[in-house]
Amino acid sequence: MTSPYIARPELLDADPLTATGRPVGWGVVSTGSIAATVTADIALLPDATLAAVSSRHADKAAAFAEQFGFAASYGDDDTRSGLDALLADPAVEVVYVATPHAQHAAVVRAALTAGKSVLVEKPITINAREATELAELARERGVFLMEAVWTRFQPAYQRALQIAASGELGQVHWVNAEISFPAPADPGARIWARADGGGALLDLAVYPLLWPWGTIGLPDSVTAVGTLNEEGVDAQNALSLSYASGAQAQLTTSLLARSPHSALVCGTEGWLRAEGADSVYRPERLEVQIGDAPVRVEEFERIGSGYVHELREVTRCLQQGLTESPVMPVHDSLALMHFLDGVRAQLGVVYPND
Ligand SMILES: NC(=O)c1ccc[n+]([C@@H]2O[C@H](COP(=O)([O-])OP(=O)(O)OC[C@H]3O[C@@H](n4cnc5c(N)ncnc54)[C@H](OP(=O)(O)O)[C@@H]3O)[C@@H](O)[C@H]2O)c1
Repeated sequence: MTSPYIARPELLDADPLTATGRPVGWGVVSTGSIAATVTADIALLPDATLAAVSSRHADKAAAFAEQFGFAASYGDDDTRSGLDALLADPAVEVVYVATPHAQHAAVVRAALTAGKSVLVEKPITINAREATELAELARERGVFLMEAVWTRFQPAYQRALQIAASGELGQVHWVNAEISFPAPADPGARIWARADGGGALLDLAVYPLLWPWGTIGLPDSVTAVGTLNEEGVDAQNALSLSYASGAQAQLTTSLLARSPHSALVCGTEGWLRAEGADSVYRPERLEVQIGDAPVRVEEFERIGSGYVHELREVTRCLQQGLTESPVMPVHDSLALMHFLDGVRAQLGVVYPND
C-alpha cells in the first residue's frame, strides 16, 4: 500500500536539530509531566524560542519558566486565566497543549479563535464530535492544527513503513502490537479519572494502532473487549481488527501489567519487529527476517526524548505557511477519533464530554 506519510526523506534522513527557517515562538499550556518532557525537546531546536508558559497556578508557571528559560509565564488571577494571558501574548505563534484529554477541546478552541497555531497532545479530544468541531474551526480560521502523534515522525517507524510498502515482507497478513504498564494506583490520577477521559484506550491505543494503520490501513471492522474499573474507565482492552482483504491485527492496551511494548508485522515473505523498550511508540531498533535469511538489524539514534521529529514537522509546516501536516493531517485525527468512539461503544466507556 502507499500512504502520504510513509518514508518521507525529511523524516528518514534529515537532522531534526538543523534549523529549517525563521524562529518560531512556542507557548506551552500546562506544567504537567509531558509538558516538561516535550519542552526540553523544544529547547533543542535552534529555530524555536520559548515564548511563554501558562498554568492554572502562577507560581507553577513561574517555576516552569525559570526551569526551561521561557520569556514569560502566566497563571490564573482574578481578571483572566493564565491560558487567556498566554493567548494574548504576541510572541506566541504556536501553542502546545498538554492538559488532560478532557480539556483539549476547550483549550484548542480558545487558541484557534485567538489565531494561534496548535500542536495538541493525543488524543486530540475525547470524541469525534469535539474533534470535528475543532477541524472546522481551524479550517475556517486558516490556522495550523496537528495532533501530537509523535511516533509517526520517528525515523525507525518511518523506516518500518517503508520496508512494508516496498513489498519486502510480501503481503502483510497480520500485525500484533501492544502497550501495557502498571499505572499508579492513585485513584485521583488523571489516567484513572473518568472526568479527565481516563483509561487505557484513549491514552495508549493510538500507539499499537499505528502499526497496522501504517502497513495495512484502518480496519473494516473491529471487535473490542475490555475490563472496566469501578469508575467505568477501561483498565485494559483487546482489539481485534479485520480487513476485507482477510488481513487481521491484534492490539492490546493495558494499565495493569508490565509488557515489552512490542510491534510485529508479518507478511508472506517475512516479518519485522520493533525491538527494545518503548519500541511500539519510540522504536530504536528494527529486526527483519525475509525467508530463512539471517535476521537483519537496523538501529536508530534517539535524539532528545524523541519528540524532536514531530516538533521539527510543526516548525517546518509553520515556516512554509501550511495549515496542516501532510504526515499527521487533521482528517487522520478525525478517523482516529471515530475509531476510538466505535471501540468505546463496544467497551461501554462513557465520558462527561460525550
Ligand atoms: N505524547 C506522549 O508521549 C504523551 C505522554 C504522556 C501524556 N501525553 C498526553 O498529554 C496529556 C497530559 O498528560 P500528562 O501525563 O502530562 O498529565 P499530567 O502530568 O497530569 O499534567 C497535566 C497538566 O494539565 C493541567 N491540568 C490538570 N487538570 C486540569 C484541568 N482540569 N483543567 C486544566 N488544566 C489541567 C495541570 O497543569 P497546571 O497545574 O500547570 O495547570 C497538569 O499538570 C494527556 O492528554 C496525555 O494523553 C502524551
